[in-house]
Amino acid sequence: MKALVLAGGSGVRLRPFTHSTPKQLIPLANKPVLEHVITHVRELGVTEICLLTGDWADAISAAMGDGSRFGVNLTYLRQDRPLGLAHAVQTARPFLGDDDFLMYLGDNILADADGTVAGIVGEFRERRPAAGLVVQKVADPRAYGVAEVDTSGSVLQLVEKPTQPRTDLAVVGLYYFTAAIHGATDAITPSARGELEITDAVQWLISRGDEVVARQYSGFWQDVGRADDVLQCNRWLLGELRTDVRGEIDPASELRGQVVIEPGARVVRSCIEGPVIIGTGTLVEDSRVGPGTSIGRDCVVRSTHLSDSVVLQGAHICTPRGLRNSLVGRFATIGLGEEGDPSYRLVIGDHARIQMTVL
Ligand code: DAU
Repeated sequence: MKALVLAGGSGVRLRPFTHSTPKQLIPLANKPVLEHVITHVRELGVTEICLLTGDWADAISAAMGDGSRFGVNLTYLRQDRPLGLAHAVQTARPFLGDDDFLMYLGDNILADADGTVAGIVGEFRERRPAAGLVVQKVADPRAYGVAEVDTSGSVLQLVEKPTQPRTDLAVVGLYYFTAAIHGATDAITPSARGELEITDAVQWLISRGDEVVARQYSGFWQDVGRADDVLQCNRWLLGELRTDVRGEIDPASELRGQVVIEPGARVVRSCIEGPVIIGTGTLVEDSRVGPGTSIGRDCVVRSTHLSDSVVLQGAHICTPRGLRNSLVGRFATIGLGEEGDPSYRLVIGDHARIQMTVL
């Protein structure tokens, strides 16, 4: 079996980050989203993987390489424009041939701690339905593909982003397909939003009488579409780390809970309360770093209280009021203003978002 990981698309909702990086490379617990995805695909027993990229092809191949670091073999293909998930399958046909495959959306995080997803994929591989879906109950299914499933797990109907969903079962971004899907992607036409929807292709299989099954998964799942999703995934993935302190901690500092301090990081007169990861070459001084925080490599965090935040490579932060639920981009600087000047001074990029509390 092969796997197709989709890393095209535009990532508009994650601007300004996606002006300079694809959303699939945003770090969660200091590793790009795609690294979590590829590692999970390998854990599911698949090592022949095609990474389908769009405009960010070069950045993605530079970050992920040939896959040997992750114990897999990566093949890159390019989709000229993000014309839909079924179009992505058509584009990857030269790699897929007539083999069964898993399709994994490269912005989806599934933390399958108890192996439920592995069990579901194992069942699909043995049973070989035309399509196998993973579904999850969600509070508001309108942003997802929505499945109607009978008591035996057969899918009766599938609709993409319905305004009035008939069930609360959202389609998770991990699909099992046999070669039957290729006839379906060729048969459908673009949706109202102009995309060839994989949901329509699977619905085509159902209408033709092919076997399409769904299995429910209730563990952690989130697609990384907005800043809040990044923070939520980061928090979850940090919770799975084991303490590993290889940087320097001075005697005036204190570490509590699960903390990863990478080699070459320094913690001086600070309190770190996990789950937290601090990257190589970073200095944390006179600060408190609280749960749910990832700090990338080569940052400086000084006289600050940080919690529930993601700080990317090379950022400098010095702000005694502290930051919470924040995303700080690469080489960004947050510092003190001129003494006696009560106003803020900002030099911020396009589509940035700032929220300030009025005292
Ligand atoms: O996250 C699960 C949902 O993902 C499912 O419930 C929906 O049924 C499915 O259509 C999909 O919906 P989204 O609107 O969230 O998909 P998005 O456009 O965000 O694309 C998902 C991933 O696929 C993302 O990594 C970008 C990539 N992609 C997307 C398109 C449209 C491509 O590589 N090529 C494309 O043409």
